[in-house]
Amino acid sequence: MLEKFTKWKSSLSSQEGTENIELVNIPKHIAIIMDGNGRWAQQKGLPRIAGHREGMKVINKIVRRANELGVEVLTLYAFSTENWKRPKTEVDYLMKLPERFLGMELPKLKEENVKVRLMGSPEDLPDHTKKAVYHAVEETKHNNGLILNFALNYGSRFEMIEAIKKITKQIEEGSLRSEEITDELFEQHLMTAELSDPDLLIRTSGEIRLSNFMLWQLAYSEFWFTDVLWPDFNEQHFTEAIAVYQKRARRYGGV
Ligand code: FPP
Repeated sequence: MLEKFTKWKSSLSSQEGTENIELVNIPKHIAIIMDGNGRWAQQKGLPRIAGHREGMKVINKIVRRANELGVEVLTLYAFSTENWKRPKTEVDYLMKLPERFLGMELPKLKEENVKVRLMGSPEDLPDHTKKAVYHAVEETKHNNGLILNFALNYGSRFEMIEAIKKITKQIEEGSLRSEEITDELFEQHLMTAELSDPDLLIRTSGEIRLSNFMLWQLAYSEFWFTDVLWPDFNEQHFTEAIAVYQKRARRYGGV
């Protein structure tokens, strides 16, 4: 076992960029706001959807590196509840990406023991998008490696309002008393019920805001922002974010 670990460790540290991180202190849950696809395309005189297409390709590399490093959950903000306001052609394109990505990558994800998960409201997604994601969820449900959590049609305020509605209903029905509402109970009603909170949040493209992403779950997370646009993001940037995380002391409000 130890021999296997040492071998794995040395094969990893021979990969570019991993020399500076401790393999014993890897964030368990990393959440990423993949931003800057539009600007990347614009800078190259391409249509915005070309940026999304390149952005999709990056996911592959990051999933692989996260899995190699032993990250337990990787949450990717792929489409927010606010993204419906974009031009229809862009929305339609974004809705095709999950099936395109999973169509190409599902066999490899299965082989690599990745478990695909959905966070968001599936009702409003087109049938073809839902079908592709549900198929991947079903096909990987027995895997116990990296959880690849796609935030699709996700918005944190909506998520919390829904949680409040469910809790209120239980109170009205008499199965819950308001004194019984705790952090833990509230969390059980969020779309991340069985996941730990993110240890690290990464946002690309130089924007320093949360954009309605995991507002409850990110309460004690470390944040790492980079000017790099998502289509240019790579394994080395990902490892750099982890290295910065490892240098920070997390005190959870204590001293
Ligand atoms: C933000 O960039 C990015 C998005 C709204 C979409 C992110 C989606 C992907 C990277 C691909 C998703 C793939 C799968 C498999 C689900 P932006 O368009 O807001 O960039 P801008 O701020 O430069 O305009």
